[in-house]
Formats: sequence, structure tokens, C-alpha cells
Amino acid sequence: MSDIESFKQEERVFNPPATFVNNAAISGMEAYRALCAEAEEDYEGFWARLAQQNIQWTKPFTKRLDESNAPFYKWFEDGELNVSANCLDRHLTNGNADKTAIIFESDDAKVSTITYRELHERVCKFANGLKSLGVQKGDRVVIYMPMSIEGIAAMQACARIGATHSVVFGGFSAKSLQERIIDAGAVAVLTADYQARGGRQLPLKSIVDDALALGGCDTVRKVVIYKRTGGDIAFDQNRDIWLHDLIDGQSAECAPVAVGAEHPLFILYTSGSTGKPKGVQHSSAGYLLWSMLTMKWVFDIKPDDVYWCTADIGWITGHTYVTYGPLATGATQIVFEGVPTYPNAGRFWDMVQRHKVTIFYTAPTAIRSLIKAADADSNVHPNKYDLTSLRLLGSVGEPINPEAWMWYYKNIGGERCPIADTFWQTETGGHVISPLPGATPMVPGSCTLPLPGITAAIVDDSGKELPNGKGGLLVIKRPWPSMIRNIWNDPERFKKSYFPPELGGTTYLAGDGSIRNEKTGYFTITGRIDDVLNISGHRMGTAEIESALVANPIVAEAAVVGKPDETTGECICAFVVLKRTRPEDGEAEQIAKELRDWVAKEIGPIAKPREIRFGDNLPKTRSGKIMRRLLRVIAKDEEITQDVSTLENPAILEQLKHVK
Ligand code: WTA
Repeated sequence: MSDIESFKQEERVFNPPATFVNNAAISGMEAYRALCAEAEEDYEGFWARLAQQNIQWTKPFTKRLDESNAPFYKWFEDGELNVSANCLDRHLTNGNADKTAIIFESDDAKVSTITYRELHERVCKFANGLKSLGVQKGDRVVIYMPMSIEGIAAMQACARIGATHSVVFGGFSAKSLQERIIDAGAVAVLTADYQARGGRQLPLKSIVDDALALGGCDTVRKVVIYKRTGGDIAFDQNRDIWLHDLIDGQSAECAPVAVGAEHPLFILYTSGSTGKPKGVQHSSAGYLLWSMLTMKWVFDIKPDDVYWCTADIGWITGHTYVTYGPLATGATQIVFEGVPTYPNAGRFWDMVQRHKVTIFYTAPTAIRSLIKAADADSNVHPNKYDLTSLRLLGSVGEPINPEAWMWYYKNIGGERCPIADTFWQTETGGHVISPLPGATPMVPGSCTLPLPGITAAIVDDSGKELPNGKGGLLVIKRPWPSMIRNIWNDPERFKKSYFPPELGGTTYLAGDGSIRNEKTGYFTITGRIDDVLNISGHRMGTAEIESALVANPIVAEAAVVGKPDETTGECICAFVVLKRTRPEDGEAEQIAKELRDWVAKEIGPIAKPREIRFGDNLPKTRSGKIMRRLLRVIAKDEEITQDVSTLENPAILEQLKHVK
């Protein structure tokens, strides 16, 4: 049975426990429906009320939604605020000043904590340091840092002075980093000497050096280095500065710079269906608002919670649910430097036990790999740990299959904790479809219902809304405050990618397929409709990997497709034509290895193809178009049942069937 079939037939329903419902921010389905009704009756009024109640404005807004230049929507445009003040300064006067903001656990299990007052001080010093380097409101700053208090402080420091940050995940290569620095026009790069992960020291600063040496990064004036491990680095006296030297002697006060509601808080690059990553641009006020509301509604955050989102700050989940949402709502959170399998695959459960975590948010890939590990070694099975502190679980990044859901529910949540299967994207800024833990009856494998104010629907290719039970394109019909504002430097691509004319030009196209249950109307996500893969919850464009492969001088042509994988969701399968004769056996293996390493260098290790198959050619139509749907079938080692009569060169299929 395919995943989709098993989702469709999923009949199990799990109600939120009564104790949870009684204390929840949104308690019961009536409360959920009341909020939805409020949004429906007065859409702008609904959002305006929430924006007034949740954000501390330095200048109140009078305008609500501006649709005059759709799809370049604006929210609360004449209001002013500072996002960092909303995350930190507000806690200095509301009784949270001495509350722990972050419990940091290093790779080697050293724990340090920081209160809101101390974090405020650290961010102010960092911000003053950046100012002393000449960084100003509107400048872009690239952050290439490990999971750390400093990484979060770096983002907050940018927000404090109105600089737009662009965090690049530490697993991206020098070339990827260089492209992002150039596209963003960054004036500074904030990095660390090394990052410690899984007992290893991985260089960051030397990758920054390599990125800048590739050329074209003339806007970069300074590189700031956080000393994490103390390992050797090259140091350019004119350009480089240690973070501790930068902040030494800086004042612990830094007045937050007020910015307009629409001021770009950050740009985050993500994969699309063409070779070039898209710089997703987010606003300040609308984004902040939704990060706070979803912390309250979906994570039901309470003053005594110990909250842990395992995502890296290099991804959107780490932005909204590590750097902004938890701090703005005054939460105590765990920040973890390492990996789930070091020193063993019980690390997550050990940390939940030691820190008495109450809310735990991770990706299905992690769950699936920990299921495997627990099956293989009973010492790292969650039943060896005391997980009774947990009250709520979350899942993000990819569809969670019902089996993994059930395991998570039983073994981690003790059948006591609701699971929020949160569907969202880099572009949506925060959760858009998710169960509310104190309201929504849960069905394994379904992200259930849109959050209040989110007008999600399923349409066909012409934009016509489809009835329940019919699969189609997932859209959001009305603009909402935390949505993507633009693609940095590419407004045309923004319009084309997300607001295609076929759908009327103003409806947000998510890029995922979805289907609603006939009876309940619950949404299930059926996967991307474009050439974007989801590997371990990380987005990767097939075109990006293809252009990396063909950039290698020995490669003539390449086509990349996704193949289902039990643990990582999907894995990358590449079909390659070389400029020389087709290699076989040992030689093919050798060249495949070289090409894998090449892709790691071009994009990053996360983009390495699992499998590379060589052919004399690729299956093409007579007009020369590569038939990817056939390649997808071949990658899965399934028989081809489709019509291949339009194929120019059917014989090639036999050749590609053989692995390598
Ligand atoms: C997928 C991550 C099913 C989806 C926050 C989306 C999901 C892409 C879920 C965005 C979920 C994310 N169920 N699929 N709960 N959450 N996705 O931009 O394909 O890294 O379009 O944002 O991940 O990935 P991104």
C-alpha cells in the first residue's frame, strides 16, 4: 500500500487528553471555531486585534492590510517596532528578567544557562560591536554559525540595529556560501572558528575564507569569529576580528532601532525548482506576530515549560521556533549543539530526562532513525529513560508516516502527549496547518486543519476549489501577516513561483499536493508538486544538484530524481552521462564517488546523491525533453508500465535499470 493509500484509510482518532484541554490556550474545538469565525467575519480586524495585543509597537499602526500592489502585500505598514526589543526588552519589566531564556548543551554535554537579562546584555554588546564596524540599518549580514547562544545573539543583534540577517546552514559549502553572500550583498559575515558535532570539529572559518576567495564578495568588509573550539584558523588582520575582542568594552545598553513593520527582518535561502536558491524575504511585524501566536496556540507555551526545538538556526524552523518565537513569548528553551546519535542514539531521550523537557519538537527523519536505533540496541530505547516530564510533542519538515507517528505517540509521549504535526514552509514563516493540542482530535499522518486566519484550500490546475476527497494543489487564498514578502533581488520569480496567473495571480501556491478527508476535511500533504526533494526534512532542488553535476568537466548531462527512503523520506538518485564512454563496475564506483564528493563541494554534503547511475544517454522525448517520470520509476527499481512510445531512445531504459 502506498503512503497516500494508507493515509486515506487511516481511521484511528486520538483525542487530546482532558487535562490538556482544560488548561490549553485554545481549549476545545468550539474555541478553535470561534477564532476561525472571527477571522472570517472581519479578516483584517482579526489580525489587527492580535497584532495590537501581542506586539510592542513603538509607533502604533493605523493601516492593516494593503493589497494595492498584490501580490506584494503589506501588513500594518505604518507601524514601527523593533523585533529584538519584543524578544528581550519586554522581559526586563514583566517579571521574566531573571528567568532562564536558554539552557545550552554542547556536543560534549557541557551545560550553560543564560537569563533574559543576561541575554539582553549579550545581544546589546554584540549589537554595539556590529555598529562599531559600521553595520547599519538596512545592511545585510550573513551568519554562518553553529547552534549556540552566540548564533542566536548574532541574529538578535542584527534585528536590534535593523540589519537584515541571512543565516546560512553550517553544512553548506564555500561555493553555496559565496553565492548567498553575493546575492544578499552582505557587508559582514559572522562565523565561528569550528563547530563541534558528533565528537568532531568541523571548520567554519576556513570555509568562509574559501567562499570569499572565490571572488565577487566585495561588499564584505568584516568577518567576525566566535571562538568555539580554539582550533587553528587563518587570520586576516585587516578583515577578521574575534567576537570577544569586538564586544570587549562595549556598553551593555544598545537602544533598539525602530523599523517599519515591513522592514526585512531576514532573508533565508531555500531551494526552488530552478538551479538558483531563492532568497525568501520576511517582514518584521507580521513574521514576529505569527511566531508568537503559533507558540501560544500550537505549542501552548506556558511560563513553566521547558521547550525544545531540535532544529538548527540555519533553517526556518530554527528561526521561528528557536530564535524568535520562544524568546518573544518568554519561554525557557533548550539549545543543543550536537547530533541525536552522539555519544549514542539515546541522546535526545537522555536530554529530555535530564532537563525535564515538557515540549519537544523534531523532524520525522530523526524519529525514524531513532526507532531503528532503538530496535537495534535496547540501551538507547526510550523506555530506558524517564520521559514523564513531556506534555506535548511536535513534528515538522516532512510528512510523518502513521507508523512513526504511533511510535512517537506511544514511546515518547506515553500516550499522554498530543502531537502537533505542523505543516508549513520557509515561505509561510510559521505553522499554517496543524492540530491544536488542546482541541483537535488527531489522526496519524494528517496535519489536520488550518490555523485560525489561514485560508488553506485545495484547487485544480485552473484554480477551481476541489471537494473533499479530491487531491490537488494546496493554496492559501488570502494573504496572512507572516507570509513571504518577496524573493530577494527577484520580484518576477516571486510572482511566478507563488502567485501564478493560472490561479488568478493573488492566491498563494504552496508547491505541495494535498487531499482532504471526505468526512473530516482534514488535510494530508501528499508531497511536492515541483522538482523539490525533501531529504531528511531538508529542501533540495533537483535542478541545483543537476547544475552542480554538469559543472564537473567530465559530465555531459545529468538528471536527478527523488526516491522514497524509509529513514530520510527521500534520497537523491542521479542519472549521469559522461563526456567519455560509459564506465562500468569498479570504475563506475570510483567515478560515482568522485562525483558525490564534487557535489558536496559544490553545494554541501546534504546534497550528495545516494545513488549514481551511468548511461550512454538519458530517456528523452523526440523534442529532447528528459522524461523524469520514467527515471523516477527506474530509480525505485519498479517495472515501467507507462507508455514509452513518445521516447526517442527506448533502449536506454534497459541500461539505466542496472545500478551504477
Ligand atoms: C514539507 C520546513 C508534510 C512540505 C518548515 C513543504 C511537510 C516543505 C510538513 C517545506 C508536514 C513541512 N507534513 N510535509 N508537517 N512540514 N513539509 O521550507 O513539502 O524547509 O513544502 O520548511 O516541507 O520545507 P521548508
